[in-house]
Amino acid sequence: MSDNDTLTLRRPDDWHVHLRDGDMLRAVLPYTARQFARAIVMPNLASPVTTASEAGEYRRRILDALPDDELCRGFLPLMTCYLTDNTDADELERGFVDGVFTAAKLYPANATTNSAAGVTDIANLDAALERMAGIGMPLLMHGEVTDPSVDVFDRETQFIKLVLDPMLGRFPGLKAVLEHITTMQAVSYVRSKQGALGATITAHHLMINRNALFEGGLRPHNYCLPIAKRESHRLALREAATSGEPWFFLGTDSAPHEIAAKEADCGCAGIFTAPAALELYAQVFDEEGAMDKLESFASVNGPTFYGLEVNEATVTLVRDAWDGPVESVGVKCFAPSGGLDWRIK
Ligand code: NCD
Ligand code: ZN
Repeated sequence: MSDNDTLTLRRPDDWHVHLRDGDMLRAVLPYTARQFARAIVMPNLASPVTTASEAGEYRRRILDALPDDELCRGFLPLMTCYLTDNTDADELERGFVDGVFTAAKLYPANATTNSAAGVTDIANLDAALERMAGIGMPLLMHGEVTDPSVDVFDRETQFIKLVLDPMLGRFPGLKAVLEHITTMQAVSYVRSKQGALGATITAHHLMINRNALFEGGLRPHNYCLPIAKRESHRLALREAATSGEPWFFLGTDSAPHEIAAKEADCGCAGIFTAPAALELYAQVFDEEGAMDKLESFASVNGPTFYGLEVNEATVTLVRDAWDGPVESVGVKCFAPSGGLDWRIK
């Protein structure tokens, strides 16, 4: 159902989220679970999730932390394996076949938060990638090179050129997702693959450009990785997300850090969007005159790419101006300065 002031769509899924662990997990999980039916859960805990048994235990902790209410009860966490230089292809396959792992995640070593145990050279993944291509297990990528001599704003485009393109050439059957894309080059590269490569797009990269990092002073809460790029890139992302093309889908990359860890001499990367995630996307789609494309981006393209069923339950958004969330559970929430126009009913 849809008119100018309400929109009912299939319940969405979040194809990239950081739920953390312990107290933080209990604090942030309800925000994701009340909006999304499923979520791809990132494995970059302080001690990374590298085996099927660790992923199974982490999944159990997530399910145990779910609030016992009607909206949250059915939430399904989809687990990922953190790839390292030593990932064993048999372990990956076992976890995937047993239904513990939905996908595996490539963090180039030291690219972002808790990635020190990541992959130092993509060649170390040859056996794992060959197996994944063979069994249809998706590879999710933090797509940035880590060479400190490469400008921080160029790290995604360099990754596409130096790592991703050669890798897809060597493993043409591999199902891969370039996560949280931030550049027009990523948009055109994903398009050029016509389905072999998917991409998630965050709400914050649709809303801010790199000026937001320096608005009147240093703004640590707008700092995330990959870092926001210039305006022309943001516009390309908005066009891609609202295009309805099946390879672009929702992934919030909601990444909570305590305020003290963000407002520090060396502040953490990560933007916390979970409290109003779907409302943030609705704002963008409405501004682009593309509310009719929100359902494909949020609720259809992701499951189709992963080969999963779409959700039968629905969620309704209503036009209702509010300020947006400010701070919750000791974490600053992302919200546009002009507030939000949509709310989940
Ligand atoms: C993420 C985090 O805090 O775990 N941070 C971020 O800026 N996006 C890690 C990541 O996805 O890069
Ligand atoms: Zn992330």
